Amino acid sequence: MPPETAAPLLQQRTSRFKGKVAFITGAGRGQGRSHALRLADEGADVALVDLGSAGTVQHPDYKTATAGDLERTRGEILAKGRRCEVFEADVRDFDALRQAADATAARLGGIDFVIANAGITDRFYRTWELPVDNWQTMIDVNLTGVFLTCKATVPHLIARGAGSALVLISSGVGLKAVPRLAHYVSAKMALRGLGTSLAQELGEYGIRCNTVHPAGIDTEMTTAMVELNGLPREQLLSGFRAGQLIQQDVEIGDCTSAVLWLLSPEARMVTGLEMTVDAGESKK
Ligand SMILES: NC(=O)c1ccc[n+]([C@@H]2O[C@H](COP(=O)([O-])OP(=O)(O)OC[C@H]3O[C@@H](n4cnc5c(N)ncnc54)[C@H](O)[C@@H]3O)[C@@H](O)[C@H]2O)c1
Repeated sequence: MPPETAAPLLQQRTSRFKGKVAFITGAGRGQGRSHALRLADEGADVALVDLGSAGTVQHPDYKTATAGDLERTRGEILAKGRRCEVFEADVRDFDALRQAADATAARLGGIDFVIANAGITDRFYRTWELPVDNWQTMIDVNLTGVFLTCKATVPHLIARGAGSALVLISSGVGLKAVPRLAHYVSAKMALRGLGTSLAQELGEYGIRCNTVHPAGIDTEMTTAMVELNGLPREQLLSGFRAGQLIQQDVEIGDCTSAVLWLLSPEARMVTGLEMTVDAGESKK
């Protein structure tokens, strides 16, 4: 029997997000782009935030999404009949994020949903050999960048009121550490603390915050791991599968389905959850 894939789910069309506005970081490619397209399919207008030509990530020297990636995604969303705003911004730059959030609210009428998804990976290092600059860049992008995204957008969610929601994209390694990625693991674990604090503080407004913990997924981040570590791609991907209970690839669409469910009214009583999309990796 052929393995099941997420593809049939991608063909589902509902209007459960009609009239809603989503603000997504790291939306130029990969999982963030997938979340944006599926939200648009289901009725939402979308603000796409990614680095584009607003700067570069160094330490490590990292290939981030381009202005062209953002424009391509915007074109596809507009073709679906939804509104779309693009912001080239570095998630380490609070002023840029605040301007993007304020402009989204002004042009699209508010912000209902935030997906803090932008992130980077790095070469594998033993912790005591990890360059200080690489540690700092990772914490700045993968942890502080998520905090700044929330800080810039939460006032808009509060203005919108009950039913708004945030999803912070952590990782399977945010639950169960792997060796030689101490900075990535530390940032992703810290997102659980940030997400819980936000869930506690936003409960009184009827606003929810959850974290998502995907296993390894084949994206440009996988390409970065292949290139930075000089690893054969298939070795990396088979390593991902070997760590799971279900020996099939976790796909981008699997993560998108989980994120959209968390944002939807079906999850209206779900907050403070650390949701795995990991084919059982955390239980192995
Ligand atoms: N791919 C995996 O195996 C995997 C597994 C678990 C969790 N994740 C997480 O999922 C999220 C999405 O990753 P992906 O797999 O789609 O990889 P990706 O590299 O395709 O997407 C990450 C996006 O973040 C953007 N970004 C990076 N630094 C930025 C910055 N300083 N400012 C603004 N944008 C920036 C990139 O340009 C890119 O578009 C990340 O947070 C990642 O850590 C990935």
